[in-house]
Amino acid sequence: MKRRTWHAAVVAVGLSVFLGSGAMAEETIKVGLILPMTGPSASTGRQVEAGARLYLDQHGDTVGGRKIELVVRDDTGTADVTKRVAQELVVRDKVDVLAGFGLTPLALAAAPIATQAKKPMVVMAAATSIITESSPFIVRTSFTLPQVTTGIAQWAAENGIKKAASLVTDYAPGIDAAKTFKEVFTKNGGEVVAELAVPLKNPDFAPFLQRAADARPDALFVFVPSGFGSVFMNQFKERGLAQAGIRLIATGDVTDDDLLNGMGDAAIGVVSSHHYSAAHPSPENQAFVQAFEAANGGMRPNFMAVGGYDGMHAIKVALEKTGGATDGKALVEAMKGMAWESPRGPVAIDPETRDIVQTVYLRRVERGADGKLWNVEFASMPAVKDPVKAAK
Ligand code: PHB
Repeated sequence: MKRRTWHAAVVAVGLSVFLGSGAMAEETIKVGLILPMTGPSASTGRQVEAGARLYLDQHGDTVGGRKIELVVRDDTGTADVTKRVAQELVVRDKVDVLAGFGLTPLALAAAPIATQAKKPMVVMAAATSIITESSPFIVRTSFTLPQVTTGIAQWAAENGIKKAASLVTDYAPGIDAAKTFKEVFTKNGGEVVAELAVPLKNPDFAPFLQRAADARPDALFVFVPSGFGSVFMNQFKERGLAQAGIRLIATGDVTDDDLLNGMGDAAIGVVSSHHYSAAHPSPENQAFVQAFEAANGGMRPNFMAVGGYDGMHAIKVALEKTGGATDGKALVEAMKGMAWESPRGPVAIDPETRDIVQTVYLRRVERGADGKLWNVEFASMPAVKDPVKAAK
């Protein structure tokens, strides 16, 4: 071998080793999962992460020979932290996808970063209608408050409830819920006699429950975010509203499967509407609940877990469609119109709005043969879109 040829060969080998290791480093596809893992919404973080991990355990974590890696970051439920963490994940960790988002203000804080970085942002938990409009890179696998509130408002009007009061947590999803409840209940002949909004931080429901009772409604409609249902239920019980003949109706966030079994008899008979119940009787859901409990020390999955599970489905199937390519626009395009059978029932991503279309169920809390409390579904409305965007 001539000296120059030898030299070129060494360079070529060196180069291929260098490129080879570079390609190796690029091989993992990174999903940055930003969630409240501490603070009052920690149950949301725990449930979403467990759902996302279970999906990968069951369906495999590789696409086209590349491994999908979850990079989990705790934003403590604080929007400033969400924003900083999203920036770090994009710039330093070079994630391909942003996902998670436990509360509306946190999703809204990250949206401009997804837009700027052109990264898909899969909202697995937060549920204010407007969120998907804050970035063209957002796809949502959770739900919207107007989507799930319509059902209970209609049911109330059709089931002898003439006067209702509403009590919601005072921030965007609560405002969505109260507004939708009033619109639909009033349109169907009901009257809203009091509208109450309780602070998100350290809520004391007692004075608001007193005002609700004073308005003498037939029923009280309630929304509180996941994680707050037990505190509410205890105070509802203590104030004696049920004894005063006031029925409790709600979105499923209140009778959250994560907390429901600990709420005791006060929860029995509560009617709610929502998109997921751990008691959903499909074989897909029974397998999901069993596997989820087995993988998480007996923890029952709630609607946040299913948002994480389905969010990973959307991400993985989109990657399969692009052949493992991680271009943000291509991944979002691949998610538009995607339809599948979720543990919650049939779901699809609306190609126009990038929001989830799903069945909404009416449920009643009952004590099962196993002695535990469950949200038992008794009616369903198929293929419900977010009504706010559908009306635009
Ligand atoms: C939200 O902040 O968007 C949110 C959080 C928890 C829920 C519903 C909505 O249960």
